[in-house]
Amino acid sequence: MKRTKISDLLKSPAFGTTVTVMGWVRTRRGSKAVSFIALNDGSTINNIQIVADLAKFDEELMKDITTGACLSVEGLLVESVGSGQAAEIQATRIDVLGTCDNTYPLQKKGHSMEFLREVAHLRPRTNTFGAVFRIRHHMAMAIHTFFHEKGFYYFHAPLITASDCEGAGQMFQVTTMNLYDLKKNEDGSIDYSDDFFGRQTSLTVSGQLEGELAATALGAIYTFGPTFRAENSNTPRHLAEFWMIEPEMAFYDLDDLTELEEEFIKYCVRWALDHCADDLAFLNKMVDPGLLERLNHVVETPFVRLPYTEGIRILEEAIKGGHKFEFPVYWGCDLASEHERFLVEHHFKAPVIMTDYPKEIKAFYMKQNADGKTVQGTDVLFPQIGEIIGGSVREENYDKLMARIEELHIPMKDMWWYLDTRRYGTCPHAGFGLGFERLLLFVTGMQNIRDVIPFPRTPGNASF
Ligand code: 4AD
Ligand code: MG
Repeated sequence: MKRTKISDLLKSPAFGTTVTVMGWVRTRRGSKAVSFIALNDGSTINNIQIVADLAKFDEELMKDITTGACLSVEGLLVESVGSGQAAEIQATRIDVLGTCDNTYPLQKKGHSMEFLREVAHLRPRTNTFGAVFRIRHHMAMAIHTFFHEKGFYYFHAPLITASDCEGAGQMFQVTTMNLYDLKKNEDGSIDYSDDFFGRQTSLTVSGQLEGELAATALGAIYTFGPTFRAENSNTPRHLAEFWMIEPEMAFYDLDDLTELEEEFIKYCVRWALDHCADDLAFLNKMVDPGLLERLNHVVETPFVRLPYTEGIRILEEAIKGGHKFEFPVYWGCDLASEHERFLVEHHFKAPVIMTDYPKEIKAFYMKQNADGKTVQGTDVLFPQIGEIIGGSVREENYDKLMARIEELHIPMKDMWWYLDTRRYGTCPHAGFGLGFERLLLFVTGMQNIRDVIPFPRTPGNASF
């Protein structure tokens, strides 16, 4: 008999019909006469209760129905009286598809997140991680739908690259060379001419530079793919492999850019509220009691536009008023997350889009303002998370961009193709990067970025 997914079955239960469900045993309880089995098939956070009259089933079979075992159950779908569920199944036939002995690590409820990371291969079977990964899927759909409906093209930037977009030099090298026997140049440096690509290459930190090429041809594009950063940041907000969404738009100025950033995030959060109600209700109950309120608040609240200089003034005022920060505040400093969170959570009580940063603390490609000191960079700062988006208007003037590249000693040989956009029909344009896992941290209320990606890569950890 054809299997029905539990999500479909609970949506509009056809009471009185015979159904077949397949899934994994979450719990089993009962008496000598009857067993109640909570079965979950991953299609929803909700289990279906299986009622097994023990007089009808073989004792040996029932022994195999343990936590974690995989079952196929045929039975009559009936209205449930007790279980807090609308429907339950009175089993007429049970097949054990896969047994599960008592070494199964997910025996009881309430494991710590740290423990569950050690069994990341099994943690999707817990309620919490099932919810997180279903939400992760829905957020990806939200992102594609948002941009598709706006007429943006999904563009694929390469993962292997010979240039360093952010200029931060925190890249993972890609090589097929024999590391035990490296060919050297006369000056002792490594000779890459025999390497696979005939030159030094790395995993990309951002698809932006290629995204700019595409935006100056297709008008508006977005990338959505993995990016890699070898920064040794062991924090709850950093991964060595994370997913980034990078839209890039021709003919956008700073106002257009910040407007899109706000519209985009609100669309995604609203999508979660509309499509992930059961999973969010679970996370709100079990993980973060402020979650739903925070999500609704962000959807309804206008984001604050705040020039960096004004932000520094507010922080300096706070210090004068007696507020203590760990890190110093002065014009030109890179804001620490305590500063960002003060502005967002304490001062404005709203997401903040900070703009017009000192050029020294931002990347070479950002559009320079007339004051000679600041650039049209934007960071979107979120409650709990800090920076969720980084973006900018791009410097489209060839000479100004070159001057900045020279000032920063960026190797030109890797950049000629990028500079061609400024030589051939240059145009005003802008774009941003949203960290997918930072968005998921916000939407799920999870506390650690390692818990919103299936298999996290962090310093010292590439298991699974
Ligand atoms: O601010 P970032 O470094 O900006 C760029 O890479 C630009 N090229 C984007 C663009 O304009 N197209 O990174 C963008 C976002 C950050 O705001 C953050 O959300 C996320 O990427 N991010 C990380 N997420 C997880 N782990 C890390 N190590 C991250 N580094 C950045
Ligand atoms: Mg940034």
